Amino acid sequence: MAQRTTLVVLAAGEGTRMKSGLPKVLHRIAEKPMIAHVVAPARAAGADRIAVVVGPGREDVAVAAKKATNGVEIFIQKERLGTAHAVLAARESFAQGQNLLVVFGDTPLLRSETLRAMRDELNRAAVVVLGFRAERPAGYGRLLVEGGKLIAIREEKDASGAERAVNLCNAGVMALAGKHALSLLSAIGNRNKKQEFYLTDAVALAAARGLNAAVIEASEEEVMGVNDKKQLSEAEAILQKRLREAVMNAGVTLIAPETVFLSSDTKFGRDVTVEPNVVFGPGVTVGDNATIRAFSHLEGATVGAGARVGPFARLRPGAKLGADVHIGNFVEVKESTLGKSAKANHLAYIGDASVGEGANVGAGTITCNYDGFAKHRTEIGKGAFIGTNASLVAPLKIGAGAYVGSGSVIVSDVPADALAVGRGKQIVKKGWAKKLREKRSTGPKGKGGKRKAAKRR
Ligand code: UD1
Ligand code: CA
Repeated sequence: MAQRTTLVVLAAGEGTRMKSGLPKVLHRIAEKPMIAHVVAPARAAGADRIAVVVGPGREDVAVAAKKATNGVEIFIQKERLGTAHAVLAARESFAQGQNLLVVFGDTPLLRSETLRAMRDELNRAAVVVLGFRAERPAGYGRLLVEGGKLIAIREEKDASGAERAVNLCNAGVMALAGKHALSLLSAIGNRNKKQEFYLTDAVALAAARGLNAAVIEASEEEVMGVNDKKQLSEAEAILQKRLREAVMNAGVTLIAPETVFLSSDTKFGRDVTVEPNVVFGPGVTVGDNATIRAFSHLEGATVGAGARVGPFARLRPGAKLGADVHIGNFVEVKESTLGKSAKANHLAYIGDASVGEGANVGAGTITCNYDGFAKHRTEIGKGAFIGTNASLVAPLKIGAGAYVGSGSVIVSDVPADALAVGRGKQIVKKGWAKKLREKRSTGPKGKGGKRKAAKRR
């Protein structure tokens, strides 16, 4: 059996530079909390246990981490005494001699391939460190290499001038061989400028014991830490780029990829086309051959095969479009199911409704689903025809094949195949307009002609 591996995520920091009431690791990137991005590659990297270390009272972080993937274990670091101390707060999760992968909660762009490479390197080394060439190394721990061997990591505050000139930096990710992990971590002291227990000291301790320490290099982009809102937006941009590339590699056509915003969980079928300026919020699935036209906004929605959405459409949570459905410009759909080939092509609100196969919802149709207290449902049967500008006052059932006259306010159920018209009866007065014009042009001014001309008969 392969050596078992535990991924430990350190997330007990405060993240004060975010200037936010929300803990740093709960800020969202591509519609997913940062902590979920950090936890996501764990399984693909070969970790069978995931331990997340949080500060006291951080149930919100615990909940988000558990939601991110199954089997997350939470450990609390009571005092913030350093990164080694934080790892040891989770010691129970690697006490059976598991290999250890340690990552920081604020490094959301790490890829599973990198973590896997580090784990594999444990076959040759007791400690593996992820390094990167920093453009501006200030603030990072420096990797000290002698004769091709990593001998120590020196934190900025403790580094000499010569050591500070090194630009090979510690990304913060470390792998420790199960056989040595606990004993190395337990040996780490806090005799340094910050009086913290530094995880990075594991390297010098390993070297002193004649054990190998190795470096794996990653790009600066992959290991970027998110400490403030500007870095949050940079991480978002990088992740969006990755997501767009991934969906295009899977066969989706993005006409202007840089204008399409995806969520980490957006799912596409084959031969989907997405026009420019479309936003996918969380929970969207788009079926084969569907087209999402420009300037549409979708979230929590399912789009059936061959369906056409937009331009300028809004699909809100619970919108379920069947195959070949057409949703056109300025149509909003919420918590509603539309059967195969149903259409709402212009200017409509469909909320808390079911629309049968092949039904046609005319321009300006509104489901009046809310009475100020509760939401009510509207059922529109198969093949029904809702004329333009109808107000459908829910709760309401419109039978299959029924016809609703344009401009109607429909307040009671309509049987199948019936016609319902609910609007003022039209009045026609022959010659009325002509007479009005004549009076206005000939009538004596100042004698009230202006007003009286329009007097109703
Ligand atoms: C750390 C590394 C440094 C590396 C840099 C990369 C150490 C000693 N130093 O420095 O070599 O170049 O990251 O960004 O590891 N944390 C806890 N509990 C603690 C202390 C920290 O959970 O008691 C968590 C923090 O929430 C954070 C992470 O560990 O996610 C790193 O801690 P931080 O204090 O930011 O370390 P740096 O000084 O940045
Ligand atoms: Ca840091």
